[in-house]
Amino acid sequence: MQKKRVFLTRTLHDFALKELRKKYQIEVHSGKIPIPKNILEKKIKNIDGLICFPYDKIDDTMMDMAENLKAISTYSVGFDHVDITHAKKKKIRVGYTPEVLTDATADLAFSLMMDVMRRVTEGDKIIRKGSWRQIYGAYDYVGLDLQGKTLGILGLGRIGSTLAKRAKAFDMKLVYHSRNRVSKTREKALGIKYVSWEKLITQSDVISIHVPHTTQTDKLFDAKIFKKMKKSAVLINTARGKVINEKDLVLALKKNIIAGAGLDVFETEPISNTHPLTKLDNVVLAPHIGSSTKETREEMARLTVKNLNLGILGKKPIYSVGY
Ligand code: DGY
Repeated sequence: MQKKRVFLTRTLHDFALKELRKKYQIEVHSGKIPIPKNILEKKIKNIDGLICFPYDKIDDTMMDMAENLKAISTYSVGFDHVDITHAKKKKIRVGYTPEVLTDATADLAFSLMMDVMRRVTEGDKIIRKGSWRQIYGAYDYVGLDLQGKTLGILGLGRIGSTLAKRAKAFDMKLVYHSRNRVSKTREKALGIKYVSWEKLITQSDVISIHVPHTTQTDKLFDAKIFKKMKKSAVLINTARGKVINEKDLVLALKKNIIAGAGLDVFETEPISNTHPLTKLDNVVLAPHIGSSTKETREEMARLTVKNLNLGILGKKPIYSVGY
């Protein structure tokens, strides 16, 4: 019997490819990343399964080109790049990779927060530039304590809750705002208080974003919101870049409307070294590495393959959205 066809928009770990080769006829895109739309349109035509990444746009038109597609397995927790409604209509299974990357992503959000507040990267740049002149002065390279500060978490899902546990250990005060309020028992266990959106943005010393990018969250953080935030506030984003109006953020950071930001995600990725954010000292930038630890990326690969296997059989992936 002819093996089913699987296409990967870029390579995965060798063990994952080996596993896939046992079952399928696989093809791995090795050219430009993200894969150009016209190439994917050609490839998707005859495949049974697709492994994709968060920057591959799998919209309705793309799916309509596929004649046999049964499963889309994305190597990410975010699935805003896949038109889930259309996949459901076409009975295409969609798998994604939550849980396994929760700790790694919460750790990165925490690292960015610490880095911005203690100015570690800024100091590193000062030394590398050869500009470390003053040693140990009262006002030199002064950062902020985490202890006693209020961390406002937007979106208390897996990653938001894990960040809360980290911050608790650093004696931060915790508040959150979420579409759905969690149970009182869970709030108590995490030592976190539910607040309105208005309170979250006006009372937090640090705001960490943990919501997906949707029509409701598109450019949610804009000039109007930055003006309402504390002048000393720090914004952390490890979720999706499009939740922030990036132009407004650059202005807010330049004019010290807010104090700083730690960003792992951007409106369009990758950003270049001429991007306006790279000109600012009060922002720490990371190249979308929330889930990027050896252990986590391997787990994600395992899960991506398992999700695909189930989807191709017409079964629900372990972590599934839509149909
Ligand atoms: C994802 O998997 O969607 C995240 O962006 C990882 O950092």
